Amino acid sequence: MKEYHVTVRRSGPDGADSRLQEYTVSFPDGEIVSVLNVLEAIYREQDPTLAFFDHAACRQAACGKCMVRVDGAVKLACKEPAHETMLLEPYNSARVVRDLLCRS
Ligand code: FES
Repeated sequence: MKEYHVTVRRSGPDGADSRLQEYTVSFPDGEIVSVLNVLEAIYREQDPTLAFFDHAACRQAACGKCMVRVDGAVKLACKEPAHETMLLEPYNSARVVRDLLCRS
């Protein structure tokens, strides 16, 4: 198994009560894992209160709405390979609805 150590900037609307929360999730060795896969695993296995954009019908870099800041750079969560250690933040701190979910 391969572990991913993830720090997520969580907050309320417009960045209120901003804080960092750490998670570790595991995937089988050799599995191709995206940032979105990691977020889904955290939501499913550890923390269903985590908010992020998930478009079940896309997940292939088509809708462009799953943007998230990964180690400081804005990426599409469904396309960006997960890093073993990464910091995830909202792509636009002025448009936060909650956690990683932003108004478009
Ligand atoms: S889910 Fe549509 S671009 Fe990522």
